[in-house]
Amino acid sequence: TMGRLLKIAIDGPAGAGKSTVAKLVAEKLGYVYIDTGAMYRAVTLQALMDKIDMRDETSLTRLAESVGLVLRVDEKGNTRIVLNGVDVSFQIRTPLVSRCVSQVSQIPGVRQRMMQLQKDMAAGGGVVMEGRDIGTTVLPDAEMKYFLTASVEERARRRYAELLQRGFTVTLEEVLADMAERDYIDAQRAVAPLKPAPDAEIIDCTGMTVDQVVDIITSRVSGRSG
Ligand code: DC
Repeated sequence: TMGRLLKIAIDGPAGAGKSTVAKLVAEKLGYVYIDTGAMYRAVTLQALMDKIDMRDETSLTRLAESVGLVLRVDEKGNTRIVLNGVDVSFQIRTPLVSRCVSQVSQIPGVRQRMMQLQKDMAAGGGVVMEGRDIGTTVLPDAEMKYFLTASVEERARRRYAELLQRGFTVTLEEVLADMAERDYIDAQRAVAPLKPAPDAEIIDCTGMTVDQVVDIITSRVSGRSG
């Protein structure tokens, strides 16, 4: 028996391996994987296309409230994000979007709408939701909460390899600088700053393999969902 359908929150800074881990955990449990960073990225992409000033809170809030966002899984098991009817799964990963997304995700009105969409998506359980504020703010009632960290150097190396693989031209130094800056903004912002929920289990993934982290999480779940 699969037991009851849990909500699993996986938070942590950029590059800690959250996405890979969350995706595999979802696959193993037959749960739905929800990448909330992709949602903030999609709003940011639309703002760039509409040439909205990244400091214009009113326009960005209005945009977030009206934007059509759908997450779905393709035949290969990869999450696709559909923005106002257009699949933007590739475009949301560009360095330009990465640079602007921290500013957009600081805005309370933007977070409010994203949080509502995310709560709705998780309502039935059976989800692995990955982000920054899932355990603290979006799903405070999640049965399982994990906060994945790793050293900034290790996280930069991972993100660098990922970007090269996706065909972007960047240097490791650029990625490291971007990541340190994003860490700072994400941790300092007034609304839902990046920090572990009091009841989250913190896993330092420095030097661990993806499989080791996935095993820790899924073994705990088997014990909890009966
Ligand atoms: O996980 P990611 O790098 O794709 O996230 C992109 C940005 O969105 C990141 O700078 C922080 C922000 N974010 C957030 O504020 N809250 C979330 N739940 C997920 C992402």
